Amino acid sequence: MEIGNKGLEKIPKSLPVIPTIDVVVFPHMIVPLLVIDDRIIKGIESAAENNKLIFLVASKNQTENQSGAISTTDLYDIGTIATIMRIVQLPEGGLKILVQGVAKARATEISAEDQILIAHLEALDINKENDEQQIEANIRNIKTLAEKMTESGQTLSPDFNILLSKMTDPDKIADFVVSHLNLTVEQSQRLLEIKSHQDLLSDVYILLRKEADVSEVQEKIRNNTRESMNKSQKEYYLREQLRAIKKELGEDDAEEVEEMKEKLNSIPFQEEARAEVKRQISRLEKTAPDSMEATVLRNYLDWMFALPWGNETPDNLDINHAREVLEEDHFGLKEIKDRILDFISVRKLKQDGFTPILCFVGPPGTGKTSLGQSIARALGRRYHRISLGGVKDESEIRGHRRTYVGAMPGRLIQAIRKAGSLNPVIIIDELDKIGADFRGDPSAAMLEVLDPQQNKGFYDNYLGVSFDLSHVIFIATANSLETISQPLRDRMEIISVEGYTQEEKIEIAKKYLIQRAKYSTGLEGKDIKLSEEAIAELIGHHTRESGVRQLERLIHKLCSKAAREIVEGHDLPEFKLDNIIKFLGPPKFIDEDINNHDEIGICNGLAWTAYGGEMIKIEAVLMSGKGKLILTGQLGDVMKESAQAALSYARAHADEFEIDSNLFQTHDLHIHVPAGGIPKDGPSAGITMLSAILSVFTYRPINAKFAMTGELDLQGRVMAIGGVKEKILAAKRNGISHVILPEKNKNDLHLLSEILHDIDVIFVDHANEVLKRVLMKPCRKKVHA
Ligand SMILES: Nc1ncnc2c1ncn2[C@@H]1O[C@H](COP(=O)(O)OP(=O)(O)OP(=O)(O)O)[C@@H](O)[C@H]1O
Ligand SMILES: [Mg+2]
Repeated sequence: MEIGNKGLEKIPKSLPVIPTIDVVVFPHMIVPLLVIDDRIIKGIESAAENNKLIFLVASKNQTENQSGAISTTDLYDIGTIATIMRIVQLPEGGLKILVQGVAKARATEISAEDQILIAHLEALDINKENDEQQIEANIRNIKTLAEKMTESGQTLSPDFNILLSKMTDPDKIADFVVSHLNLTVEQSQRLLEIKSHQDLLSDVYILLRKEADVSEVQEKIRNNTRESMNKSQKEYYLREQLRAIKKELGEDDAEEVEEMKEKLNSIPFQEEARAEVKRQISRLEKTAPDSMEATVLRNYLDWMFALPWGNETPDNLDINHAREVLEEDHFGLKEIKDRILDFISVRKLKQDGFTPILCFVGPPGTGKTSLGQSIARALGRRYHRISLGGVKDESEIRGHRRTYVGAMPGRLIQAIRKAGSLNPVIIIDELDKIGADFRGDPSAAMLEVLDPQQNKGFYDNYLGVSFDLSHVIFIATANSLETISQPLRDRMEIISVEGYTQEEKIEIAKKYLIQRAKYSTGLEGKDIKLSEEAIAELIGHHTRESGVRQLERLIHKLCSKAAREIVEGHDLPEFKLDNIIKFLGPPKFIDEDINNHDEIGICNGLAWTAYGGEMIKIEAVLMSGKGKLILTGQLGDVMKESAQAALSYARAHADEFEIDSNLFQTHDLHIHVPAGGIPKDGPSAGITMLSAILSVFTYRPINAKFAMTGELDLQGRVMAIGGVKEKILAAKRNGISHVILPEKNKNDLHLLSEILHDIDVIFVDHANEVLKRVLMKPCRKKVHA
């Protein structure tokens, strides 16, 4: 490839000249030109008669117009030989011609001959040492850039990229791109004079790059202006609309502020709050009514005005009335009812006494939450319940700072607003289910809420002023104290609510649940017959719970069935033991569930969980192995350790129990505690584990009528445990007749006489006393593998 004389066999010696004013014509380029100068027209005419070739050369002096004389010295010496494609005579004189560049050439001399401007030409000395790779790379660069420019919408001409992508000839590519760039004559001329493809292409690439950058910036500027226009226009329109709507609604801004000022005077704010409200009103006055800030301020003021400043409901301190209400709503729960009556008595004598914070702890469905409600009713106070289950964020308690968009006060302030008085009863439900994470520890905030000394000045981040919570009666409820921190526990008066016995449940059903179910199913005044045996059946075989929630649900279900019978025109059904199945389906818990076969390695233990007492079976089995202890059933560390300790005790006393001590080396012991995936922990299964272990090593079955609980030490002593009542109730629910308890728990029983009449409680001090009772005669059935 050669630059310069492509498309021409040879450079002609001389050719007529056409000087171009503000364009440099490149080979391949097709350009229209207007010519009025006589000498040049003559040259064109002579060329047209000849080989149709002319020499185009740019003029250095651009200010000169073509009608003025162009001196030959004003012309560059390198130009382009072009062929004339068409000549059009213009009516007003002059010519319009269309030319296409063919090859570059240098004019050695330009002179006027026979009134024609003629150039003597020579070929350009061409640099033939081209690096093909470099050329290829430049071509690719140019093409990719052109593509990118098209994608981002900054193309130089509509078909620029399509045409370019089809070209392969470096010369053509260079000329094509150059013809599309906005170059000055000098720049173009410089490119024309470049002698190698390589340099030409890389220069073209650089120029194209510049062009791309410039047009990118242009585009950006265009977009920015467009955006800012749009935004401010939109805001303007919205504002106008808002103003129109407000006018329509008769809500004038000034009026609004006036109203607020009036309220400021009429509402009995606390001093600090009044000052803050005043400050915010005057800020609102100065803020543009439609601004974001004004909205935030208005929200805040709404909240402040909506709180029940100065509104305390009078307490009903009539002790007989309170007693009646408490009895009306709940059966039993004597200790709690007494505590409430004490409180009312104190209030009666000392009006401004301190308000206690009570915490009811006990299994589900035992009436903790509903008791809170009765207390409010007994005192004639408003009532609101906050559930803390799953609350992890401190700002749920304390509120968000006002700088947040959509900020709100915390749950306590919300509760006060909903309750509408400064002295409601607020139930803080599920205090034990409160969480903590990176957003802070809500229980720390609860410390302040639940401290009668501190909650006088409770600070909510949203309100930004302290708020007096000291007149509120807080009642917390929890299923277990374990997850409640010690400082929090210390601030409250803990009252434990225990599970109900079968008899209590029957009473609750008869006196309360049936009435309520009748009321809620529209059967008031109707005589629903639900026999005592049927209730016992519900309790024994359709539910297994410490409280009465399931029982309440079932009774409600029976009443719904009765309602249906009435609606369908039938007689009211009588619910009896033998037709319960018809209404509720087969019983969920059958006695066969309960292990009443005396078996080797299976022992009944009693556990105490957040859900009340539960009977769990501990299973042990021996299999040939190497003396390993395997523990399964989601056991916690403490429980694992008590299994270890029990095994050690068994090994240490192998002789005493006539155990073949080789078994400890030749067999693995597996202890499993079934009952779903419930995690189990605590030391109170010590004696149960030991009984199961000794049973498998001695082939002696365990008496299934017994259930037991007690911690064991390595000397075999039995230590005290917790949750006695719940555990005894669980044993009774499971049809157990004998319960083994640690001697050290004997004192716990003095309050429990009413639940002990149909169960035999045995107190033990030492493991041997347990084993003596539960391990039966050896059965020679071989159980070891
Ligand atoms: N002693 C009782 N007398 C009458 N009704 C009772 C008694 N105990 C519980 N109930 C009733 O049982 C239902 C469940 O009680 P509640 O919701 O108060 O249980 P809870 O102790 O708060 O349970 P949880 O720990 O699951 O929140 C309520 O309808 C309640 O009225
Ligand atoms: Mg509750």
